[in-house]
Amino acid sequence: MCPPVLLLLLLGLVSSIGSALHPRTSFRLNSVDRPVVLFGPPDLQNATTLLLSDDGSTLYVGARDAVLSLDVRRSDVIRLKKKVEWRPSQSEINDCQSKGKNAMVDCPNFVSVLQQMNSTHLYVCGSFAFSPHDAFIDTRSFSMVTHADAKAKGRCPYSPEQRNTAISIDGELFTATTTDFRGVKPQISRHFSKDGRQEVSQDSSVGLLEEPTFVGSSHDPSGEKLYFFFSEVGKEFNFQEELRVSRVAQVCKGDIGGQRTLQNKWTSFAKASLLCQLPRQLPFNVLQDVFTLRPPEGADASDTLLYAVFTSQWSSAPESAVCVFKLRDIRAAFRGSYRTFQTGTRQLDPMPLKRWFLGQCGLNNASDLELSEVKTSFLTSSSVRGDAIAASSERRYSRVAAMRTQAADGKAYTVLFLLTESGFLHKVALLDKGAQVIEEIQVFTQPQLVLSIVISSSKGLVFVGTSEGVTSVPVARCSIYATCAQCVLARDPLCGWSRAAAACTGLEGRGQDLAQDLTGGDVEEQCREAPGAAPVQEVNVHSNEAVRLRCVKPSNLATLTWTSSRFKVLPRNLFITSADGGLSFLASAETVGSYGCVAQEAGHQEVVASYEVRRLEDHLTTVGQVVLPTDRGQVVLATKEPKTTYLEVDPTEEAGLLFTTDSSRLTPSGPTDNSLILAVTEARTAQLGEQAPKKSLVGGRSYHGELVVVSVLLASCVLVLALASLWEWRRRRAGPPGEGGETRGWMETVPSLSGPEKEAIE
Ligand SMILES: *[C@@H]1O[C@H](CO)[C@@H](O)[C@H](O)[C@H]1NC(C)=O
Ligand SMILES: *[C@@H]1O[C@H](CO)[C@@H](O)[C@H](O)[C@H]1NC(C)=O
Ligand SMILES: *[C@@H]1O[C@H](CO)[C@@H](O)[C@H](O)[C@H]1NC(C)=O
Repeated sequence: MCPPVLLLLLLGLVSSIGSALHPRTSFRLNSVDRPVVLFGPPDLQNATTLLLSDDGSTLYVGARDAVLSLDVRRSDVIRLKKKVEWRPSQSEINDCQSKGKNAMVDCPNFVSVLQQMNSTHLYVCGSFAFSPHDAFIDTRSFSMVTHADAKAKGRCPYSPEQRNTAISIDGELFTATTTDFRGVKPQISRHFSKDGRQEVSQDSSVGLLEEPTFVGSSHDPSGEKLYFFFSEVGKEFNFQEELRVSRVAQVCKGDIGGQRTLQNKWTSFAKASLLCQLPRQLPFNVLQDVFTLRPPEGADASDTLLYAVFTSQWSSAPESAVCVFKLRDIRAAFRGSYRTFQTGTRQLDPMPLKRWFLGQCGLNNASDLELSEVKTSFLTSSSVRGDAIAASSERRYSRVAAMRTQAADGKAYTVLFLLTESGFLHKVALLDKGAQVIEEIQVFTQPQLVLSIVISSSKGLVFVGTSEGVTSVPVARCSIYATCAQCVLARDPLCGWSRAAAACTGLEGRGQDLAQDLTGGDVEEQCREAPGAAPVQEVNVHSNEAVRLRCVKPSNLATLTWTSSRFKVLPRNLFITSADGGLSFLASAETVGSYGCVAQEAGHQEVVASYEVRRLEDHLTTVGQVVLPTDRGQVVLATKEPKTTYLEVDPTEEAGLLFTTDSSRLTPSGPTDNSLILAVTEARTAQLGEQAPKKSLVGGRSYHGELVVVSVLLASCVLVLALASLWEWRRRRAGPPGEGGETRGWMETVPSLSGPEKEAIE
């Protein structure tokens, strides 16, 4: 446990970076406002490897014992196109079981590689009962072409729990995975090598990789190099505790190994540390995921950005951070100087001289002397430092996807989608003033570690693969913002207020008409002509009746205040505001009047709910006791108004009280045994025709005496209750003794659905 002082200090540090990630709006799974589409038939399990076709119309899914092709052209439905079953035989499962594995948990075939190899074929690789198998799939027929060499050792892991990565370029496959049953021998290698080249893998005479967890791969737009991203044990640090570090490793695509030294081994392997650290904090050292965002067409390829999410080895809370790395910096690190592995001490020491050939491509004809230096000098001296975009002290982000979009101001903005292990997708806009979580959408319910996220910028959809199925989430749903102010305050680069349509819409094909202000969120300027103010709702109440006025916060960042026509400041002895924004009070001559709920956010005020509270006595007058004998039991009430309200009583039905203003329905007759007397003390006719008055008001004969007694009792109950709640409320406001007001202020957080997460299990 953290001492409280330290906790406060940490909280202070996190909040000081200015981009603590609090979602502005939150949506639960299956919310009507922000629907998501789930493809989750019962026979689909562990749908956690996703690949989007180049045209964005087909989503390939690697699942448990199956590979699927899904039609994702429409945003409102996901349709199954084809499915191939791919499961181990019973004898293979028995084999797996005999090696001490659980038949249900470990021995199915978990597909963990799905790559487009060429225009007609997909490559798939799965754990296949702890004995990796791979195959090609013909995309047109969606049938599996199992190739002769079905054992796929070194292409995907044996264990479904180990992470791996693969990337295919020009028909060749590059993988990073463990290669043995126990999952302790990691390797980066090339398969299906073209032009008669040898398959290349990694030299194992020195520890090039130390217990790595591979999280992603990417290729350099120059076409020469590939990058693999992972975390591993940092051997350059001489600590007691095994310190994990995050790395990027490079290999050259065309590497064919050395002639004598490093035969069929990478001559281009090198790795560099990735640093993601916030000022005055321990680094976030464990890389979780990386997304490569290519620059817009025409821009320099070295402007490619890599968005990465990190967690920390030391944090007990579910913290995480997002950093962005520049490809330019990664390239520079590999061009720089290196550390050398000392065989004696098994340490990685800085090398005095810079060697031109380290980290270069095309060393196949290099001398043995040079290659032996390549063998031992594979870690760059300098680290690649990322820019911290945001940190969360209460959420553990585990996957990231990014898209670039052009906003109404003509500038390009980046929008990130961050997925937590607990089931929430956070949409984060990177604005000039920092990152802002525009919305938080729940996309699955069971916390899980194995997930994937894929984005289709062209179709405007994010796909999430989990053990519950495949979910598609539109990147925006602008119609959730009902007013111009809400639309502008959202500061969503994908949404703007159309003045012509008087609605919040997407940006497609709309030019100058849109109100949007991503920098200032200046509502006054943007929404000058837009209709404001919520319509007034009437509330009719009786004296001493408890009144509760609702007010829904338009955003988690808004603060609500109530205004009244009667009071400048609502007196605390008369009014109670609840945490959900509601206002409660007892109706009296003092408290009737108009009320407004004002939401304040980013300097803008908007009335989001407006009420007119009236006492019924003010305009309905009763005439006292009326007897109207009828066979159906009808009693008339009169009011001062031109309209007369009749109360129809069916004595045979307990709740048979109906209000009517239709006198033609009355069928007066002579006195009968069913004649009723109604003691009318108050006209409880708030909702004519809807609400039956209390049963105690009616009886078969004269209940006047009882009624008076009941009324007195009721009134005293109300009074006691009111006093009790007032006392309770005052007690709570004062707070329990010992809790200082200042400390509570520190702890205050913006409410959100995902809330603080439980620590994830690893
Ligand atoms: C694609 O790859 C598969 C598997 O290696 C091969 O059979 C097929 O001929 C290739 N197709 C093209 C168009 O290169
Ligand atoms: C597969 O899904 C189940 C839940 O359906 C989950 O418990 C299990 O951990 C998943 N396995 C893998 C390897 O992802
Ligand atoms: C490098 O080696 C290859 C054979 O591996 C040979 O064909 C080529 O001519 C050599 N290039 C140089 C510059 O020595």
